Amino acid sequence: MKYFITTYGCQMNVHESEKIAGMLVDIGYSSASSYEDADIIVFNTCCIRDTAEKRAFGNIGALKSLKRTHPDKIIVVVGCMTQQKGGAEALAAKFPFVDIILGTNSLDRLPILVQEKRIRKTVISVASDPTVDLSLELPIYRTSGTNAWINIMYGCNNYCTYCIVPYVRGRERSRAIGDVIADVKQVLSEGYKEITLLGQNVDSYGSDLQDGTNFALLLKEISAIPGKFRLRFMTSHPKDFDREVIDVIASSNNICHNIHLPIQSGSNEILRRMNRKYTVEQYLSIVDYIKEKMPDVGITSDIMVGFPGETEEDFLETCDLVRKVRFSNAFTFIYSPRKGTPAASMEQIPSDVKKSRITRLVKLQNDITKELSDEYLGNTYEILVEDVNPKYPGTVCGRTDSGRLVTIKGEPSLIGSFLDVKITKSRSASLFGEILSKGE
Ligand code: SAH
Ligand code: SF4
Ligand code: F3S
Repeated sequence: MKYFITTYGCQMNVHESEKIAGMLVDIGYSSASSYEDADIIVFNTCCIRDTAEKRAFGNIGALKSLKRTHPDKIIVVVGCMTQQKGGAEALAAKFPFVDIILGTNSLDRLPILVQEKRIRKTVISVASDPTVDLSLELPIYRTSGTNAWINIMYGCNNYCTYCIVPYVRGRERSRAIGDVIADVKQVLSEGYKEITLLGQNVDSYGSDLQDGTNFALLLKEISAIPGKFRLRFMTSHPKDFDREVIDVIASSNNICHNIHLPIQSGSNEILRRMNRKYTVEQYLSIVDYIKEKMPDVGITSDIMVGFPGETEEDFLETCDLVRKVRFSNAFTFIYSPRKGTPAASMEQIPSDVKKSRITRLVKLQNDITKELSDEYLGNTYEILVEDVNPKYPGTVCGRTDSGRLVTIKGEPSLIGSFLDVKITKSRSASLFGEILSKGE
């Protein structure tokens, strides 16, 4: 018996798919290579933007005829789309051939529902409040090679006015520090070389526990665990990313100098209407402090264009900010109205204006990424080899501590090792290098 999972959305969802796989492996399933080959087909959905929803709709809809010829296949839809107000019912009405619809809060019910095999009648199980006991982590079938994802918290309390996440993921819940540390030790003993801590807003880790735990303390404790490994985390929020955390990162030897710090907009007026609770000036002062403490840092960001009411001047301020910070990379998005969020009922701006802005922003960031790539040339960096690079046969790739991907000639047996690599070529966002020596 086999399963096939399609995942949309953020790292959190990618990791949740590892938990879905873990639960299915536990009840005797193994991984399939295609829909046709699978007995159970799972869609782990995202609703952050319209494009993410459309993609899932298209792919689920395409299974209609397969289900008609193979009625025994179990089709499951989980993830954030199901958790929207009326979302599960809408999915069931649109795709009556789906067998099980599960919310983000009731994922742990999957094995029971699958074993009951209630085929041909859609079972909906979406809880508005979290029912999952955070101390009882679900089994995990990791698929991410050298890196292990570990949730430190769930949900988000920030209510940025454009964002659906607080509505579909609920309030912030932190896992106990002892549970997180036990997970870290476990994955290190299994041989993972890199750990990425996950949360929508990792900087407020611990604030709901009310026992004095905070993100700086968590980082310090994990960083002190013996062994050679790298520690990453995402996502930080500029309003909470404080100097104490920056100091901990700068003084550790295993927390990567790679910070993802979404700015969203370079206009104070837009930031205010987004409910981001920081100004451009505050953001720049954090960036200055980070760069002062870690001159080799790679700062990445999320930037949005076309938020309701964004003027050309607001947009040009975003471009100015991008020029000032010089992000090593940025994820750029066109604002997409999300039903039920405050920004969806604000006055929207035309789509051709949004398109023109995203094109200009992407070009600007690409130029900066290329210039920064050139600065790597001739220097030597420690790389953790993560995978083969399928684009260039006979090569493997890995990242620098600052998060830049480097491709080198080598065999798959190098995956999981730390290498000193000299950068010999840069091509826009891609770096190429040669091995100087093999570390641990
Ligand atoms: N918790 C993280 C990630 C949230 S989702 C954070 O706060 O940064 C990732 C990114 O998607 C956001 O940073 C934002 O840039 C983008 N995003 C969120 N809602 C969006 C919307 N309605 N339209 C377009 N982009 C959106
Ligand atoms: Fe969404 Fe804002 Fe929470 Fe990030 S911090 S998940 S953008 S509400
Ligand atoms: Fe992630 Fe998308 Fe949900 S970005 S939290 S999967 S809405």
